[in-house]
Amino acid sequence: MTEKNKQDSSLNHSSMSDEDMVKIHCKLGREKHEPTKGFLIAPLIFVFVFGCLIFVCSIQLAHSTNSFQLHPPEIADVRTEEEIERDRFDKKLASGKKIFGLRCASCHQNSGLGIENQFPPLAGSEWVVANPELITKIILKGLQGEINVMGKKYGTTPGANMVAVPINNKEIANVTTYVRNAWGNSASEVTEEQVAKIRKDTSDQKDQWIGIELEAEYLTDSTVN
Ligand code: HEC
Repeated sequence: MTEKNKQDSSLNHSSMSDEDMVKIHCKLGREKHEPTKGFLIAPLIFVFVFGCLIFVCSIQLAHSTNSFQLHPPEIADVRTEEEIERDRFDKKLASGKKIFGLRCASCHQNSGLGIENQFPPLAGSEWVVANPELITKIILKGLQGEINVMGKKYGTTPGANMVAVPINNKEIANVTTYVRNAWGNSASEVTEEQVAKIRKDTSDQKDQWIGIELEAEYLTDSTVN
Protein backbone atom coordinates (compact mmCIF):
# COMPACT_ATOMS: atom_id res chain seq x y z
CA MET A 1 0.00 0.00 0.00
CA THR A 2 1.35 3.31 -1.00
CA GLU A 3 1.59 6.15 1.41
CA LYS A 4 -1.22 7.88 -0.41
CA ASN A 5 -3.55 4.91 -0.24
CA LYS A 6 -2.93 4.58 3.45
CA GLN A 7 -3.84 8.15 3.91
CA ASP A 8 -7.04 7.67 1.86
CA SER A 9 -8.29 4.77 3.87
CA SER A 10 -7.66 6.45 7.17
CA LEU A 11 -9.36 9.48 5.78
CA ASN A 12 -12.34 7.35 4.67
CA HIS A 13 -12.70 5.82 8.11
CA SER A 14 -12.61 9.09 9.94
CA SER A 15 -15.05 10.52 7.44
CA MET A 16 -17.80 8.10 8.69
CA SER A 17 -20.19 10.23 10.62
CA ASP A 18 -21.46 9.44 14.14
CA GLU A 19 -24.88 8.94 12.67
CA ASP A 20 -23.70 6.18 10.38
CA MET A 21 -21.96 4.50 13.26
CA VAL A 22 -25.18 4.43 15.30
CA LYS A 23 -27.11 3.05 12.32
CA ILE A 24 -24.66 0.26 11.82
CA HIS A 25 -24.69 -0.60 15.52
CA CYS A 26 -28.43 -0.59 15.55
CA LYS A 27 -28.51 -2.93 12.60
CA LEU A 28 -26.01 -5.19 14.24
CA GLY A 29 -28.01 -5.13 17.44
CA ARG A 30 -31.20 -6.05 15.62
CA GLU A 31 -29.56 -8.93 13.83
CA LYS A 32 -28.27 -10.25 17.11
CA HIS A 33 -31.74 -10.33 18.77
CA GLU A 34 -33.58 -11.66 15.80
CA PRO A 35 -33.52 -15.36 16.79
CA THR A 36 -35.27 -14.68 20.18
CA LYS A 37 -38.18 -12.94 18.51
CA GLY A 38 -40.10 -16.21 18.01
CA PHE A 39 -39.53 -17.30 21.58
CA LEU A 40 -40.99 -14.09 22.98
CA ILE A 41 -44.46 -15.26 21.86
CA ALA A 42 -44.34 -18.32 24.14
CA PRO A 43 -44.61 -16.40 27.46
CA LEU A 44 -47.41 -14.35 25.95
CA ILE A 45 -49.38 -17.52 25.24
CA PHE A 46 -48.81 -18.68 28.83
CA VAL A 47 -50.04 -15.36 30.19
CA PHE A 48 -53.12 -15.61 27.99
CA VAL A 49 -53.88 -19.23 28.95
CA PHE A 50 -53.40 -18.58 32.67
CA GLY A 51 -55.49 -15.45 32.38
CA CYS A 52 -58.32 -17.45 30.88
CA LEU A 53 -57.92 -20.12 33.55
CA ILE A 54 -58.10 -17.60 36.38
CA PHE A 55 -61.13 -16.01 34.74
CA VAL A 56 -63.01 -19.29 34.43
CA CYS A 57 -62.04 -20.36 37.96
CA SER A 58 -63.21 -17.05 39.38
CA ILE A 59 -66.61 -17.44 37.80
CA GLN A 60 -66.85 -20.99 39.12
CA LEU A 61 -65.75 -19.87 42.59
CA ALA A 62 -68.16 -16.95 42.61
CA HIS A 63 -70.95 -19.39 41.81
CA SER A 64 -70.06 -21.98 44.39
CA THR A 65 -69.33 -19.54 47.21
CA ASN A 66 -72.30 -17.29 46.57
CA SER A 67 -70.38 -14.21 45.35
CA PHE A 68 -67.35 -14.95 47.56
CA GLN A 69 -69.31 -14.62 50.79
CA LEU A 70 -67.71 -16.72 53.50
CA HIS A 71 -70.99 -17.32 55.27
CA PRO A 72 -73.65 -17.38 52.61
CA PRO A 73 -77.18 -16.83 53.87
CA GLU A 74 -79.11 -20.03 54.51
CA ILE A 75 -81.45 -21.13 51.80
CA ALA A 76 -84.76 -19.53 52.63
CA ASP A 77 -87.44 -21.86 53.94
CA VAL A 78 -90.08 -21.50 51.30
CA ARG A 79 -92.71 -23.45 53.18
CA THR A 80 -95.75 -21.62 54.47
CA GLU A 81 -96.55 -21.56 58.19
CA GLU A 82 -99.19 -24.25 57.69
CA GLU A 83 -96.79 -26.49 55.78
CA ILE A 84 -94.16 -26.14 58.52
CA GLU A 85 -96.77 -27.01 61.14
CA ARG A 86 -98.06 -29.96 59.12
CA ASP A 87 -94.53 -31.29 58.62
CA ARG A 88 -93.83 -30.99 62.34
CA PHE A 89 -97.05 -32.83 63.22
CA ASP A 90 -96.43 -35.54 60.61
CA LYS A 91 -92.96 -36.11 62.05
CA LYS A 92 -94.41 -36.41 65.53
CA LEU A 93 -96.99 -38.94 64.34
CA ALA A 94 -94.30 -40.95 62.53
CA SER A 95 -92.17 -41.04 65.68
CA GLY A 96 -95.22 -42.00 67.76
CA LYS A 97 -96.05 -44.82 65.38
CA LYS A 98 -92.56 -46.22 65.76
CA ILE A 99 -92.73 -46.08 69.54
CA PHE A 100 -96.16 -47.72 69.43
CA GLY A 101 -94.73 -50.59 67.38
CA LEU A 102 -91.95 -51.12 69.91
CA ARG A 103 -93.79 -50.49 73.19
CA CYS A 104 -97.49 -51.11 72.78
CA ALA A 105 -98.26 -53.24 69.73
CA SER A 106 -97.27 -56.52 71.38
CA CYS A 107 -100.45 -56.26 73.47
CA HIS A 108 -102.73 -53.74 71.74
CA GLN A 109 -101.71 -54.94 68.23
CA ASN A 110 -100.61 -52.82 65.28
CA SER A 111 -104.25 -52.54 64.24
CA GLY A 112 -105.05 -51.00 67.65
CA LEU A 113 -107.80 -53.58 68.01
CA GLY A 114 -106.25 -55.43 70.96
CA ILE A 115 -107.11 -59.05 71.68
CA GLU A 116 -110.55 -60.09 72.89
CA ASN A 117 -110.81 -60.70 76.63
CA GLN A 118 -107.12 -60.00 77.04
CA PHE A 119 -105.93 -56.65 75.74
CA PRO A 120 -108.45 -53.84 75.27
CA PRO A 121 -108.64 -51.99 71.93
CA LEU A 122 -107.24 -48.48 71.46
CA ALA A 123 -108.99 -47.92 68.13
CA GLY A 124 -112.27 -46.24 68.99
CA SER A 125 -111.58 -46.42 72.75
CA GLU A 126 -113.14 -43.63 74.80
CA TRP A 127 -110.13 -43.85 77.13
CA VAL A 128 -107.75 -42.85 74.38
CA VAL A 129 -109.54 -39.70 73.22
CA ALA A 130 -110.55 -38.47 76.69
CA ASN A 131 -108.56 -35.80 78.55
CA PRO A 132 -104.93 -36.47 77.50
CA GLU A 133 -104.01 -36.82 81.18
CA LEU A 134 -105.75 -40.20 81.22
CA ILE A 135 -103.66 -42.04 78.62
CA THR A 136 -100.51 -40.30 79.88
CA LYS A 137 -101.16 -41.46 83.43
CA ILE A 138 -101.77 -45.06 82.24
CA ILE A 139 -98.43 -45.15 80.40
CA LEU A 140 -96.59 -43.58 83.36
CA LYS A 141 -97.93 -45.93 86.06
CA GLY A 142 -99.84 -48.78 84.40
CA LEU A 143 -103.43 -49.89 85.02
CA GLN A 144 -105.17 -52.68 86.94
CA GLY A 145 -108.64 -53.92 87.76
CA GLU A 146 -111.81 -54.10 85.77
CA ILE A 147 -112.43 -51.52 83.05
CA ASN A 148 -115.05 -50.85 80.39
CA VAL A 149 -113.95 -50.11 76.85
CA MET A 150 -116.62 -49.52 74.23
CA GLY A 151 -119.15 -51.42 76.24
CA LYS A 152 -116.94 -54.45 76.88
CA LYS A 153 -115.27 -55.49 80.11
CA TYR A 154 -111.54 -56.05 80.39
CA GLY A 155 -109.19 -56.70 83.28
CA THR A 156 -111.52 -59.18 84.88
CA THR A 157 -108.83 -61.79 85.43
CA PRO A 158 -106.08 -61.12 87.98
CA GLY A 159 -103.21 -61.30 85.46
CA ALA A 160 -104.82 -58.87 83.04
CA ASN A 161 -103.24 -55.57 83.87
CA MET A 162 -100.88 -53.12 82.26
CA VAL A 163 -97.54 -52.24 83.79
CA ALA A 164 -95.91 -48.80 83.43
CA VAL A 165 -94.08 -48.27 80.14
CA PRO A 166 -90.59 -46.85 80.85
CA ILE A 167 -90.26 -44.18 78.14
CA ASN A 168 -89.39 -40.49 78.40
CA ASN A 169 -91.70 -37.47 78.23
CA LYS A 170 -91.12 -36.81 74.56
CA GLU A 171 -91.76 -40.44 73.67
CA ILE A 172 -94.99 -40.41 75.67
CA ALA A 173 -96.08 -37.17 73.96
CA ASN A 174 -95.38 -38.67 70.55
CA VAL A 175 -96.96 -42.07 71.16
CA THR A 176 -100.10 -40.68 72.80
CA THR A 177 -100.53 -38.11 70.01
CA TYR A 178 -100.21 -40.96 67.52
CA VAL A 179 -102.68 -43.25 69.31
CA ARG A 180 -105.15 -40.37 69.70
CA ASN A 181 -105.05 -39.79 65.92
CA ALA A 182 -104.67 -43.29 64.46
CA TRP A 183 -107.28 -45.83 63.25
CA GLY A 184 -109.97 -43.17 62.94
CA ASN A 185 -109.36 -41.70 66.42
CA SER A 186 -109.30 -37.94 66.54
CA ALA A 187 -108.17 -35.96 69.57
CA SER A 188 -105.84 -33.13 70.56
CA GLU A 189 -102.07 -33.32 70.40
CA VAL A 190 -100.20 -34.13 73.63
CA THR A 191 -97.12 -32.03 74.35
CA GLU A 192 -93.92 -32.93 76.14
CA GLU A 193 -94.64 -30.17 78.68
CA GLN A 194 -98.04 -31.68 79.53
CA VAL A 195 -96.41 -35.06 80.10
CA ALA A 196 -93.64 -33.53 82.22
CA LYS A 197 -96.21 -31.87 84.48
CA ILE A 198 -98.22 -35.09 84.93
CA ARG A 199 -95.03 -37.05 85.64
CA LYS A 200 -94.07 -34.52 88.30
CA ASP A 201 -97.54 -34.37 89.86
CA THR A 202 -97.69 -38.17 90.17
CA SER A 203 -94.05 -38.76 91.12
CA ASP A 204 -94.95 -40.08 94.59
CA GLN A 205 -97.23 -42.77 93.25
CA LYS A 206 -95.76 -46.28 93.04
CA ASP A 207 -98.81 -48.44 92.22
CA GLN A 208 -100.75 -48.87 89.02
CA TRP A 209 -103.93 -46.85 88.61
CA ILE A 210 -107.17 -48.57 89.54
CA GLY A 211 -109.49 -48.87 86.53
CA ILE A 212 -112.77 -47.85 88.21
CA GLU A 213 -111.11 -44.85 89.88
CA LEU A 214 -109.85 -43.45 86.59
CA GLU A 215 -113.20 -44.15 84.98
CA ALA A 216 -114.94 -42.13 87.68
CA GLU A 217 -112.46 -39.27 87.28
CA TYR A 218 -112.21 -39.07 83.49
CA LEU A 219 -114.98 -41.03 81.83
CA THR A 220 -118.21 -39.86 83.41
CA ASP A 221 -120.34 -37.90 80.94
CA SER A 222 -119.31 -34.51 82.30
CA THR A 223 -115.60 -35.13 81.79
CA VAL A 224 -115.52 -36.76 78.36
CA ASN A 225 -114.09 -34.35 75.77
C1 HEC B 1 -97.91 -56.02 78.24
C2 HEC B 1 -99.11 -55.63 77.56
C3 HEC B 1 -99.37 -54.16 77.36
C4 HEC B 1 -98.54 -53.22 76.83
C5 HEC B 1 -97.11 -53.40 76.34
C6 HEC B 1 -99.28 -51.99 76.82
N1 HEC B 1 -100.53 -52.19 77.33
FE1 HEC B 1 -102.01 -50.81 77.45
N2 HEC B 1 -103.18 -52.14 78.44
C7 HEC B 1 -102.86 -53.46 78.65
C8 HEC B 1 -103.92 -54.06 79.42
C9 HEC B 1 -103.97 -55.51 79.88
C10 HEC B 1 -104.85 -53.07 79.67
C11 HEC B 1 -106.12 -53.19 80.51
C12 HEC B 1 -105.75 -53.04 81.95
C13 HEC B 1 -106.92 -53.27 82.88
O1 HEC B 1 -107.87 -53.90 82.45
O2 HEC B 1 -106.86 -52.82 84.01
C14 HEC B 1 -104.36 -51.86 79.00
C15 HEC B 1 -105.04 -50.66 78.96
C16 HEC B 1 -104.68 -49.57 78.22
C17 HEC B 1 -105.47 -48.38 78.01
C18 HEC B 1 -106.86 -48.10 78.56
C19 HEC B 1 -107.90 -48.98 77.93
C20 HEC B 1 -108.09 -48.79 76.45
O3 HEC B 1 -108.12 -49.81 75.76
O4 HEC B 1 -108.20 -47.65 75.99
C21 HEC B 1 -104.76 -47.55 77.23
C22 HEC B 1 -105.16 -46.19 76.73
C23 HEC B 1 -103.49 -48.21 76.95
N3 HEC B 1 -103.48 -49.43 77.54
C24 HEC B 1 -102.49 -47.68 76.18
C25 HEC B 1 -101.25 -48.26 76.00
C26 HEC B 1 -100.15 -47.65 75.29
C27 HEC B 1 -100.22 -46.30 74.60
C28 HEC B 1 -99.11 -48.51 75.37
C29 HEC B 1 -97.69 -48.29 74.84
C30 HEC B 1 -97.01 -47.08 75.25
C31 HEC B 1 -99.55 -49.68 76.09
N4 HEC B 1 -100.85 -49.49 76.45
C32 HEC B 1 -98.78 -50.79 76.33
C33 HEC B 1 -101.74 -54.11 78.22
C34 HEC B 1 -100.62 -53.50 77.67
